[in-house]
Amino acid sequence: MQPIFSARWLQAPLSLRESPEEFRTGACPDHPVPAAHEAPVEFLFSFTPKGAVRSASLQATALGVYTARLGGQKIGGEVLAPGWTNYRKRLQYQTYDVTALVRGGENLLSAEVGLGWRMHAREKDWMQPTLGGKDTAFLAALTLVYEDGTKETLKTGEGWLCRASKTRYSNIYNGEVYDAGFDPGEAVPAPVLHYPKEILIPRQGERITEQERLPVQKMFTTPEGELVLDFGQVLTGYVSFRIEGPAGAKATLRHAEILDAAGNFYTENLRQAREEIVFLCDGGTHTFQPRFTFQGFRYVQPKDWPCEVRPEDFTAVVVHSEMRRTGYFECSNPLLNRLFENIVWGQKGNFLDIPTDCPQRDERLGWTGDAQAFVRTASYLFDTETFFTKWLADLASEQFASGGIPHVIPRMHWDGDSSTGWADAAVICPWQIYLTYGDREILRRQFDSMKGWVDYMIARAEDGLWLGGDHFGDWLFLEDERTPNEWLQNAYFAYSTSLLVKAGEVLGVPVEDYRAQRRRTEEAMRQRFLREGKLTCNTQTACAQALYFGLVEGEDRVSVAAQLAQLVREAGHLRTGFLGTPYLLHALSENGYTQLAYDLLLRTEYPSWLYPVTRGATTVWERWDGQRPDGSFQSKGMNSFNHYAYGAVGDWLFGGAAGIRTDESQPGFTHIRFAPLTDSRLDYVSARIETRHGTVASAWKREGGLILYTFEVPEGCTATADIGGTVYQFGPGVKTVSRE
Ligand code: BGC
Repeated sequence: MQPIFSARWLQAPLSLRESPEEFRTGACPDHPVPAAHEAPVEFLFSFTPKGAVRSASLQATALGVYTARLGGQKIGGEVLAPGWTNYRKRLQYQTYDVTALVRGGENLLSAEVGLGWRMHAREKDWMQPTLGGKDTAFLAALTLVYEDGTKETLKTGEGWLCRASKTRYSNIYNGEVYDAGFDPGEAVPAPVLHYPKEILIPRQGERITEQERLPVQKMFTTPEGELVLDFGQVLTGYVSFRIEGPAGAKATLRHAEILDAAGNFYTENLRQAREEIVFLCDGGTHTFQPRFTFQGFRYVQPKDWPCEVRPEDFTAVVVHSEMRRTGYFECSNPLLNRLFENIVWGQKGNFLDIPTDCPQRDERLGWTGDAQAFVRTASYLFDTETFFTKWLADLASEQFASGGIPHVIPRMHWDGDSSTGWADAAVICPWQIYLTYGDREILRRQFDSMKGWVDYMIARAEDGLWLGGDHFGDWLFLEDERTPNEWLQNAYFAYSTSLLVKAGEVLGVPVEDYRAQRRRTEEAMRQRFLREGKLTCNTQTACAQALYFGLVEGEDRVSVAAQLAQLVREAGHLRTGFLGTPYLLHALSENGYTQLAYDLLLRTEYPSWLYPVTRGATTVWERWDGQRPDGSFQSKGMNSFNHYAYGAVGDWLFGGAAGIRTDESQPGFTHIRFAPLTDSRLDYVSARIETRHGTVASAWKREGGLILYTFEVPEGCTATADIGGTVYQFGPGVKTVSRE
């Protein structure tokens, strides 16, 4: 839809925005002094339709995040609109059908605007986003189509007023302060802000909406004497609560993901993010939920609550991007089933308009490395094509002229960029979205960006190898098993180049130079890192990458697989970080070590995927040992309990255990390569993906000494099933095979 904006951005007058005195010195003295721009503003506009209205639509956006209302009713089901993009270049607007809300006579259109993602919790340090200003503003155009066919468009401009909001403070990370008794006073004319409109784009991503409501599971008092409510699930969103208290009473709702070893409410891992909702009472009863912020939490602590704390008065509202759920997995091991649920929750918690590292501490950023590690799992669990289309457009818009890629998208105000394994998100993510959904459009849109990143590496390579630069490495690897950067960056160099070649082939773009480059890098890597069939980088990550990225062939492949198997056996467990973990099980099972892959998957002691599950985790942790067996924490500063990266093992549950795989030559599951992998410790595995063609399912179970395999192929698709080396080919429908 074409924008109809010739409307003007409206801003609160300076006087309104710079005088939160009564808030600063009065009602809420010990809360951090809010900067003026952290006090949301309400814009108001009254209009009277000239006649009977046939239809009405509103286009709206904000610098900040907004909630619009017509006649007091919230418009649209979205929260945190207009979402988070590269605000310097791209700002989404929303279009709403408001026909049902327009009345005859006088109507009031209003919008509250908070700062949203325009300001980070830690304003003065490296986390500051590159936004070019802290202004909050609102822009809208309301089009009325009358019964007689005439049209009228009412735009932000003359006649719009503004006043302070009862939400006295809002900050994505810190929370909100709402003063029910606050008198916003007289509305005054809203001044015009001169701000470019070329940045406006229609919404490209998914709507951010409230998805689920969870009741309190348990209420208890901690050893420190604090009353705590437990929702039983680490989630992202906010709490809706009913409250009643005398005028001026100040209640605070604190949020936490986890309890410490002693069972106390633990917030140190939030770092500088406060995650607090402050409610100032006015003597009446209210049901309140925040509007301009979200929290990552499982537990809440109502502090100084002015009325009885009753669990039924608190509901957790789960908020994330609206994505169709597509991937399901179940097996005979309950811990593995819980791991799978945790991976799903990790995605729900971190796919809030952009793929974030975590939803709770003072970060919540679009870390590229995390996104590329998880993209395949994400694309199976939920339909993420639209979600990634938007985020990748932001990635391309943030890409430097050199082809370099910032570490986080949208970009922060810092200099770092182009870390290996992080920047490769530019190539890996579009390729995976193409494989899962089968539409080459994503490759067409992203091709220049993909090429830009590969060209960046080529420009810095000598004799086929790229050395130097700043890299995060195999982030959070274990036990001194550091994989050298010179390996990692060339492994990704080769891998991304090969994906670029494939993308070029799909699009019919000449890629011969890149094919040659890939061969050069591969050869140079063999020269540098391979001695007598073994990698000189003797780490699980290096071996897994060599196998998964196709960097070793023939005899070398066999010996590097043996090297990996030996490393795993010697350690007795995995040692990989963010860059090795996604490939580890595939590398083993694809090369004759399926049982070893299952050993790692089914292990319950630290370090393993199931260890957090045995500790009651309901999401995937950032660290293998976020909370140690004795209940102590690995670290204070960097210890999120909702980080999806290690959840990348989800794609092995589909592709390995259940054996549902795409075929690069017929992507989008048009041709399915089934190759289920059984293990004596499991009695059954069952998985399905709701693809664009329909249900693709694979299951196996033990039955009377045999294994019964069942495959489901949707109309219009074909499949090949490889069961222990025997290959079956079939078309749409359900197929069963019984084997020893
Ligand atoms: C984030 C990660 C990220 C990393 C970069 C962390 O603070 O939470 O997930 O990828 O920094 O190394």
